[in-house]
Amino acid sequence: MKILFLDQSGKPGGAELCLIDIAKPYRDSCLVGLFADGSFRNLLEQQHIPVQVLATEPIQVRKESSFAQGLGSVSSLMPLIARVVRKAREYDLIYANTQKALVVGAIASFLSRRPLVYHLHDILSLDHFSRTNLSIAVTLANAQASLVIANSKASKMAFVKAGGREQITEVVYNGFEPELYRIDQSSSSQLKQQLGLDGRFLVGHFSRLSPWKGQHILLEALVRCPEDVTALFVGDALFGEQDYVQLLHKRVAELGIEERVRFLGFRSDIVPLMNACDLVAHTSTAPEPFGRVIVEAMLCGRPVVAAEAGGAIELVEPDITGFLIPPGDPTRLAEIIISCRNQPLHAATIAHQAQSQASQCFDLTTVNQQIEKLLYRIVKGK
Ligand code: UDP
Ligand code: GLC
Repeated sequence: MKILFLDQSGKPGGAELCLIDIAKPYRDSCLVGLFADGSFRNLLEQQHIPVQVLATEPIQVRKESSFAQGLGSVSSLMPLIARVVRKAREYDLIYANTQKALVVGAIASFLSRRPLVYHLHDILSLDHFSRTNLSIAVTLANAQASLVIANSKASKMAFVKAGGREQITEVVYNGFEPELYRIDQSSSSQLKQQLGLDGRFLVGHFSRLSPWKGQHILLEALVRCPEDVTALFVGDALFGEQDYVQLLHKRVAELGIEERVRFLGFRSDIVPLMNACDLVAHTSTAPEPFGRVIVEAMLCGRPVVAAEAGGAIELVEPDITGFLIPPGDPTRLAEIIISCRNQPLHAATIAHQAQSQASQCFDLTTVNQQIEKLLYRIVKGK
């Protein structure tokens, strides 16, 4: 099966990391077309997945764009669409992995007569998108996609609620290779030492820096915790959220917790870093579509606390495989941190249960088989 994958991003967010795993089995016969250049291209190349940057200039549409801006940008997309149409004729299927990829992919699918699959990584609600962008996504998916793969039940439900066709939508969770997350604990202890964090109770936060990812909630929780509790922020502002970064640093200074906070920026050594943490916190203030970091923490055997909304509810069974807190609630977060610090055995039991359950439920081989079956159905039925 020859697949033309499309993704708008040059940077590796969760949707892009998921795409690497999905494209890998097709690397002998697929192409990943990107609408921007960046480190995501390097990651694909490292995995020997054919990749080409198809856009020559940045696409201006933003999540909050108005109708007029939306229309204006469609005309600016014409050269890109023409390029994608030409490419698509060499492939059996167009697989759009992001919203802008859906816009380009839907038009290219119509013109090239190739079936379209849309991998929906977002919760299509007003928490995340403008009304215009929501209706563009739903209208194009309904009109042109043969299949919508939703990354969680929550993402599927939001799509259907926004008017998306339920009959074409299947839920497929992100897949992981559990063995990659089990590492020798001594390398993590060394890392903790190198970071000068020995003896601290380390709460890790592994997300791009963005207001809805709620890093500020962890800062507010920290001041409600004993002095040895320290926060490790791993991730960078991937999509231009520099104001939020400033705000976080300002808040650290205001709270006088400089000694208890580390910002490491974007890192590719997530596994040893997660293993060095005593607890992993997920604090999104808007519903998380899936939440790779939650599953990754589980696979590392680290206890995880997550904000109770969106896909996170499908991943964590409270007090069995992790902890759930109301979104945006630093007091409740502090209570969970303190209880994990004071009862490490209980936290370890939960982490252990989560590790074995996550290894079964989110196994990449199974997920890829699921996707292969769905795609074959589409290609055969074209
Ligand atoms: N991640 C990473 N380096 C970082 C921060 C995050 O590789 O410095 C990875 C993280 O391990 C996860 C992904 O980025 O696999 C983020 O995906 P998630 O679904 O949690 O959130 P998204 O950013 O896609 O909304
Ligand atoms: C998106 C979502 C995130 C999800 C990832 C992979 O980036 O924000 O919640 O885990 O896609 O599906």
